[in-house]
Amino acid sequence: MYIVFLISSGVLHAVVCLHNRKFPPGFQFGAATSAYQIEGAWNVSDKGESICDRFSRDHPELITDKSNAEVACDSYRKWRVDIQAVQDLGLDFYRFSTAWTRLLPTGFSNEISKDGVNYYNNLINGLLEKNIKPIITLYHWDLPQRLQDLGGWTNPLIADWFEQYADVVFRLFGDRVKMWVTINEPLLMCDFNYNTGTLAPRIKDPDTATYLCTKHVLIAHAKAWRLYDRKYRHKYHGILSIANHVVWFDPLTPKHEDEAELAREYTVGRYAHPIYSKEGGWPKVIEQKMTEYSKKKGFPTSRLPAFTPEEIKLVRGSYDYFAINYYTSRLVRKALPGDEAAVFFDTGAPELGLTFIKDPNWPSGGHNFIPSYPKGLRSIISWLKQKYGNLHFFISENGYGNFDSGLDDYDRVEYFHQHLEQVLHSIHDDHANVTGFTAWTLMDNYEWLSGYTLRFGLYHVDFTNPERKRTPRASAHYIAKTVKKRTLETPVKKQHTQSQAQNGKSKTNVNLFCLLISVTVIVCTKYF
Ligand code: NOJ
Repeated sequence: MYIVFLISSGVLHAVVCLHNRKFPPGFQFGAATSAYQIEGAWNVSDKGESICDRFSRDHPELITDKSNAEVACDSYRKWRVDIQAVQDLGLDFYRFSTAWTRLLPTGFSNEISKDGVNYYNNLINGLLEKNIKPIITLYHWDLPQRLQDLGGWTNPLIADWFEQYADVVFRLFGDRVKMWVTINEPLLMCDFNYNTGTLAPRIKDPDTATYLCTKHVLIAHAKAWRLYDRKYRHKYHGILSIANHVVWFDPLTPKHEDEAELAREYTVGRYAHPIYSKEGGWPKVIEQKMTEYSKKKGFPTSRLPAFTPEEIKLVRGSYDYFAINYYTSRLVRKALPGDEAAVFFDTGAPELGLTFIKDPNWPSGGHNFIPSYPKGLRSIISWLKQKYGNLHFFISENGYGNFDSGLDDYDRVEYFHQHLEQVLHSIHDDHANVTGFTAWTLMDNYEWLSGYTLRFGLYHVDFTNPERKRTPRASAHYIAKTVKKRTLETPVKKQHTQSQAQNGKSKTNVNLFCLLISVTVIVCTKYF
């Protein structure tokens, strides 16, 4: 009897162990890049000037290595090499962005660049020939300078200009592109840009511009989604989402749970609630806090601009899936006098009296803005699922930056391994409908204020070589193996920082236990 029990529980355990390491059928793997970060060819043919071109040319002193992206990875010329790189990893899809100014040199849709269209046609057709699904991001921060001169994301007309640009891209490529991201990381474009004034368009205006941008991004996204829905969906059957940069917030101590929840609503809910919730509009608690704080600061109305009932309706439900860019988490407590001045999700939210803290035990590749906390990914997916339902979740970015340009990037391997493990927990234990994972990024590229010093690539890029040679790193081999087996691979070599070693030990124990049970089962089946 005892033996029967042992055998059956052994079989069960072995099956569960193996099952929990498997990605479900249909789960897709890919890698991402963005136009400004890789293309170069900033003024080739009739391409117009973007805010990124202008910023890096005028302010090299603000970039760590004083570089710009005028050549970057030279992907404008090397698109065949990029496709080959994606194919060599066995990826299912490649997420890239179209440069607004390459397609519409003036920013407006009355003039379309032939060379721009050719470039993206070549890339899309080349991917499809290799059976790689193209995913297009319409906007990855490179606004036409001309539109910036008219106010950029603080001008409500931006929503119409974006819709017109989206119309052109859907019309040109919609027959072959079936998955779209409208706008990449509004949290960074609005909160980071206007709170710090450090990135293009280099305007610091936390009081007003941040929240005008928040609202206009949501309207722009919704207009593009509705346009697709009306005009293209019936013939092209694609799916669209905005890609939100989601940060998980844990309470510093259990008594700070209310503060942590407020931080989640402010940082994630402000961009998600208007689209994904049943009632639409801003999260109530954020609307109320922003009104109180604005009053306290002497503003006659809330700095978070109200939605009209028509706008609430326009934005609510404008999604087909939920694109998640996840990199990092924070701990939260109430702000205390003397706390560092708050800079969006990095250090806190003055409006809410919150201070955000990085746990010193979370490893980072020397870039302390995005320390690694893999469990945060599972937590934020659960939070989103609980708030908005079990939507179609898709990890549109996840990646690890370090200042090491070597090929043996075991810290990055460990980062991907630990995050993929959390994705599997979300799928198998929390029953979340997560359907894909995107590594940021295919290859080292122009990392905004860090120039070429901070590397995220599965492929190393030699920026001193005119050919911009790409060489796969250990992380590229790790991802390729995982994709091939559709199973979570155990990294070959682990980084032995204290916490990782600890983590590694317990994982090895679980694996050994699984193995032991499986052997027992085989022996028992054979001899009893
Ligand atoms: C997210 C952004 O989408 C991407 O452009 C950036 O390079 C990575 N984060 C890393 O910072």
